[in-house]
Amino acid sequence: MKERSEFSGKLGFILAAAGSAVGLGNIWRFPYLAAKYGGGLFVLIYIFFITTFGYAIMSSEIAIGRKTRLSPIGAYGALDKRFKFVGIIAVVVAALIVPYYSVIGGWIIKYFVTYASGGYLEAATDNFFVDFITSPLEPVVWQAVFVLIGAFVVFKGVKNGIEKINKVLMPALIIISLAIGIYSLTLPGAIDGLKYYLIPDFSKFSIEGVLAALGQMFYSLSLAMGIMITYGSYLNKDDEVGRSVRHIEIFDSGVAILAGFMIIPAVFAFSGGSQEALSAGPGLMFITLPKVFASMGLSSLIGTGFFLMVLFAATTSAISLLEVVVSTICDQYGLSRTKSVVLTTAFVILMGIPSSLGNGIWGNVKILNLAILDFFDFITNAVLMPVGALLMCVMIGYFINIKDIQEELGIAKDLGKQKFYGTMIKFVAPVFIVLILLSSVLSTFGIISL
Ligand code: PHE
Repeated sequence: MKERSEFSGKLGFILAAAGSAVGLGNIWRFPYLAAKYGGGLFVLIYIFFITTFGYAIMSSEIAIGRKTRLSPIGAYGALDKRFKFVGIIAVVVAALIVPYYSVIGGWIIKYFVTYASGGYLEAATDNFFVDFITSPLEPVVWQAVFVLIGAFVVFKGVKNGIEKINKVLMPALIIISLAIGIYSLTLPGAIDGLKYYLIPDFSKFSIEGVLAALGQMFYSLSLAMGIMITYGSYLNKDDEVGRSVRHIEIFDSGVAILAGFMIIPAVFAFSGGSQEALSAGPGLMFITLPKVFASMGLSSLIGTGFFLMVLFAATTSAISLLEVVVSTICDQYGLSRTKSVVLTTAFVILMGIPSSLGNGIWGNVKILNLAILDFFDFITNAVLMPVGALLMCVMIGYFINIKDIQEELGIAKDLGKQKFYGTMIKFVAPVFIVLILLSSVLSTFGIISL
């Protein structure tokens, strides 16, 4: 058998996994959710989740990968044939997410290029964003560029591609974020924003906030997409899984909190203390922030740095998704990495086209009353991911011998840790995952609001 690629060490693995975890979710969703649901209170709830069952789920995925040394379909199949389809769900999720994630990646490149060429005033004009995303050709071209960058890294392999790029981009991302965060805090009025962001407001406690923290955790930690299984399959047997998970989580939530430092004080300063300007998603990043940047000194530099940093975050996430698909094709069909990369790239570019056109000339095409991009987002994040995660917990907790996984985690001798892990996987995680599933489906159709 061909020898499986490996990360060169723990640092390479942690940075690659962190590169996957740190993405758009950290930048355009976390600060907004925190501001909406009680500032520091939300941060505390979030930290509670990632250190309890988020920790258990991420550890399990990495353990499954490392134990079987296979990509998701093979890995689930090897543990229990009846659960092979859970691996299929994970790969399908990855394959469906990466095209529309790349559409947004393309938008980021467009903004980066606009800022880098001095267009900070243009980017802040009212129709810049809408005119761009509704045009039929340009977004598709940038999307393809984004995919090709990611595909090239994946083509170079685990050690020479994925590990190397993360070792450069992740530290760079931190440095840029710190610089912008510090600058943002010096703006007049910023301190009020900071207080609003960080001081816990317990009067704002709500079930919606708890559910939002749960959903955010799943997405942000890149769980249930086969990513941690795949990266885990390249992890050396000597490294302790639990410790790595802790580091990945610290990195991921650190960047999420830092993103709030960049965004919230600046938006507050810009809007004179009103929180209304703060939104989540594309509106924040592509409409509000360019206006905020235009209103401050150093606009060109800050805008360029910001979109470069976002581009790093999105690229390393997309790479992890591409790797899931590529390694599955290699493992399942015995194709070479090169062939597998070519096939995957073609698929992703083609599949991204309808998502992109859905913003413009195909704007009338609706599936379940959702635009095409939103539909893919819904099916993957709101439905398939929680279902996959639930089935993983059920498999580990009730169908296979949980001891095997505990052994892989290196906790076979520690009764306390075993008990904690067992409780999380058998009881706590399934209950919470069902809650996420219900709330995300209901909120998509406006039955509850999150
Ligand atoms: N974890 C990423 C984020 O926070 C999300 C993501 C990663 C989505 C990989 C898909 C694939 O944005």
